Amino acid sequence: MNTFVEAKGFRIPLVGLGTWALRGRDCARLVEQAIRIGYRHIDTAQMYDNEEAVGEGVRASGMRGDVMVTTKVQPTLLSPPDLERSVKQSLAKLRIDHIDLLIIHWPNPRVPLAETLGAMAKMKQEGFTRAIGVSNFTVALLEEATKVSTEPLVCNQVECHPFLNQDKVIAACKEHDMALVAYSPIARGGAMGNAVLERIGTAHGKTAAQVSLRYLVQQGIVVIPRTSKRERLEENFAIFDFDLTDAEMREIHGLSAANDRIVDWSWSPNWD
Ligand SMILES: NC(=O)c1ccc[n+]([C@@H]2O[C@H](COP(=O)([O-])OP(=O)(O)OC[C@H]3O[C@@H](n4cnc5c(N)ncnc54)[C@H](OP(=O)(O)O)[C@@H]3O)[C@@H](O)[C@H]2O)c1
Repeated sequence: MNTFVEAKGFRIPLVGLGTWALRGRDCARLVEQAIRIGYRHIDTAQMYDNEEAVGEGVRASGMRGDVMVTTKVQPTLLSPPDLERSVKQSLAKLRIDHIDLLIIHWPNPRVPLAETLGAMAKMKQEGFTRAIGVSNFTVALLEEATKVSTEPLVCNQVECHPFLNQDKVIAACKEHDMALVAYSPIARGGAMGNAVLERIGTAHGKTAAQVSLRYLVQQGIVVIPRTSKRERLEENFAIFDFDLTDAEMREIHGLSAANDRIVDWSWSPNWD
């Protein structure tokens, strides 16, 4: 099995490290360790307040050229001048030559999408990032975005795990040749203790978290699990040496419900 997906010709490693809530020296060390273990995709955001530490970890690994670094533009900074300024600040914090994948963190209905996407395209054309994408976009917003964007959008990063049914957005991403990047892919640790995932894991000599991640990557979905523990970095990466059967995939899909979100969307339209 490949360890990456391609979307509009842009290659995205299937397993990345999520870094929300990781900070300072610990964050830098974990990023460096993850890259040494084999991770080639690191996910940060302006909002996480850890871009300096992420950049430090990437540089310390000595493998910058092999690693895809994603950052996300804060939803309060989506007007073109704010976006451009913030991307330059992100690069200065990361202290790397360019961003690999620049994402709109969350839509902001107060700023016309075409304006934001115009600024994102400019960032790509001027070499600040190699590719652009979106996050937390509904199917309707994806349709609008793909129509107005002048540069290819390579991903939609959304909450995705065995307990949340994301069939519609998965289908929309496929239709537009975009990768779906799953955040909270082990349901913030909630996969552990689930009877079905535990039983299937035992049958393969794997943990419930590994089954949750394998279930996603086996569908071509990119996962960005976060951990603050070195041993779990290894565990979350060791998902390419087993296959779930069709029956197991169906059983896991049966755990999902339409509205079982962890991340609260109710605050999103209330930007100042
Ligand atoms: N675009 C967005 O709006 C958005 C929203 C949310 C998240 N994200 C991104 O997605 C990443 C991942 O999502 P997330 O942090 O919400 O949730 P997650 O990766 O599903 O879960 C992280 C939690 O699970 C625990 N964990 C990690 N590996 C484990 C394992 N093998 N066994 C048991 N527990 C384990 C971690 O604890 P320990 O530290 O103790 O291991 C942590 O508490 C974030 O870090 C961020 O980069 C993006």
